[in-house]
Amino acid sequence: MAETVTSSGTTSTTGHLLASLEPLLREWLPRQRWFAGKGRPVTGLTPVAVTELLPPDGRLGLYHLLLRAHQPPAPGSAPHAGDCYQLLIGVREALPPRLAPALIGHVEEGPLAGRTVYEALYDARPAELLLEALRTRARVGVLRSERDPHQEIRAGLVPRLLTAEQSNSSVVYGDTFILKLLRRVVPGVNPDLEIPLALAREGCPRVPAPTAWLHADVGAESSVLAVLQPYVAGAADGWELALRELAKGEDFTAEARALGRATAEVHTALARALPTVTLGPTQMNALVDGMTERLAAAVQAVPALRPYEPGLRSAYEALAALAAEGRTWTAQRVHGDLHLGQCLRSPSGQWSLIDFEGEPARPLAERRMAQPPVRDIAGMLRSFDYAAHSAAPSAAGWAHACRAAYCSGYAEVAGRDPRTDPVMLRAYETDKAVYEVVYEARHRPDWLAVPLSAVRRLAASDPT
Ligand SMILES: Nc1ncnc2c1ncn2[C@@H]1O[C@H](COP(=O)(O)OP(=O)(O)OP(=O)(O)O)[C@@H](O)[C@H]1O
Ligand SMILES: [Mg+2]
Repeated sequence: MAETVTSSGTTSTTGHLLASLEPLLREWLPRQRWFAGKGRPVTGLTPVAVTELLPPDGRLGLYHLLLRAHQPPAPGSAPHAGDCYQLLIGVREALPPRLAPALIGHVEEGPLAGRTVYEALYDARPAELLLEALRTRARVGVLRSERDPHQEIRAGLVPRLLTAEQSNSSVVYGDTFILKLLRRVVPGVNPDLEIPLALAREGCPRVPAPTAWLHADVGAESSVLAVLQPYVAGAADGWELALRELAKGEDFTAEARALGRATAEVHTALARALPTVTLGPTQMNALVDGMTERLAAAVQAVPALRPYEPGLRSAYEALAALAAEGRTWTAQRVHGDLHLGQCLRSPSGQWSLIDFEGEPARPLAERRMAQPPVRDIAGMLRSFDYAAHSAAPSAAGWAHACRAAYCSGYAEVAGRDPRTDPVMLRAYETDKAVYEVVYEARHRPDWLAVPLSAVRRLAASDPT
């Protein structure tokens, strides 16, 4: 590739760039799948950093933007500085038809007046430039790329943007790499890079090892912007596979067991790589209080939960009672949002876990907290239940068999079966099911029956 990332910094053009872009971006941003502040207008945009990657006087101009979007606070929330978003903006005289879906708009004011601006990730040349910047460890303005010196990045890989609904944006390069551009940017150590790097150091093969990554250094603060990882070509995710087997009436226990093993491999490597902590009565009380508060809020929001409230609360009380007797647990870094959709099976049958970002709406400190590994296990157990119910309510036996196989697989690697700590498992499954009830009631009422059936089971079960 002849082109390299060249100019940088805030020039008089970049300084006034927002005069051209703001009116268009205020309309365009809230329509993006990854925009977090849906339902509230964008009242203003302020630049956190503007980096000119290609000057706009050529056939293609290219800007990297970090922009803070100002919005009125959500009802009941405290005023907030506004989320910072990462954008890659292309500038052309006119867009070729193949780039029509990428259009942001025609500029009327400011330094780019008369030009067309668009979402540059759709375009091959800007996407190639990004890979080239990572390959050559480029530093441009606030942008700083780093890479694993042991992994090769071939020049000239052909990019394609993934168009599936996502909370970030991903570009696949020649079926060899996948670049995940984080859309909501926060300063600090980001688990989406931290965890795969830690696992790579441990030699854990269950997570694609980061090949290169991009930071923004703004003042004293550094933020992760993007992570390049090997692409598992021809992979299917666990959710797709589970539904396929369910539709055929096939057993999925061998895969469930392999997933249990994969989860345990990741957990044991993370427990070696990153600090663990012991949870005594004080920490457990805080944890149980959080669960109890979430239950109370959920019952307020979804009256269908009310009959089960005492039973669900007993799951948390049982955990608090064990802690009061002096039981302790170990917390460690975990995935944080594990479900079948976060597991990829390669054509050779190997499982990988992906997407360690946690809940992007939560502060980084919370997303990076050590937690009992049962949190991930409970997430997977709930996911088998979801898959079964979405196929047929009568598939409960399929879910039960998968859940058992998953726990057995986990025990084979970790040396401890999650079912031997039924109180902890029930408390975490309950917390997850309660979250699901609120989510479904708000977003997908047709699905509410799925977590409600788990709620019935969890409220009734007394594992002691
Ligand atoms: N290493 C990989 N190899 C193959 N495909 C991958 C890889 N990493 C991610 N993908 C694909 O890209 C999709 C999005 O990745 P990821 O889940 O990391 O992004 P996200 O923006 O956090 O998504 P979500 O909105 O679901 O949280 C995955 O569902 C998967 O299909
Ligand atoms: Mg994600």
